Amino acid sequence: CFEVQLARSGINLTIPADRSVAEVLIDHDVDLLTSCEQGICGTCITRVLDGIPEHRDRYLTEEEKATNDCFTPCCSRSRSRVLVLDL
Ligand code: FES
Repeated sequence: CFEVQLARSGINLTIPADRSVAEVLIDHDVDLLTSCEQGICGTCITRVLDGIPEHRDRYLTEEEKATNDCFTPCCSRSRSRVLVLDL
């Protein structure tokens, strides 16, 4: 598992191996729009302020992925222990 810190809401959440970041965020009433939930549409794109996402989507380009400043919480995960999001 890894941790997600929401910079604007001041909430820290643990993401278990069997749940997506988007699922956990929505469970905690965080305002996040999702649609395809498969990394195709880009609806859920969220700004990453710190940490390194493990990109699993097919929406962002390789260049966008390499900047590590946004990710798709419906399917992507984290390479770092903590991911800080602009939420
Ligand atoms: Fe479609 Fe995340 S909901 S990419």
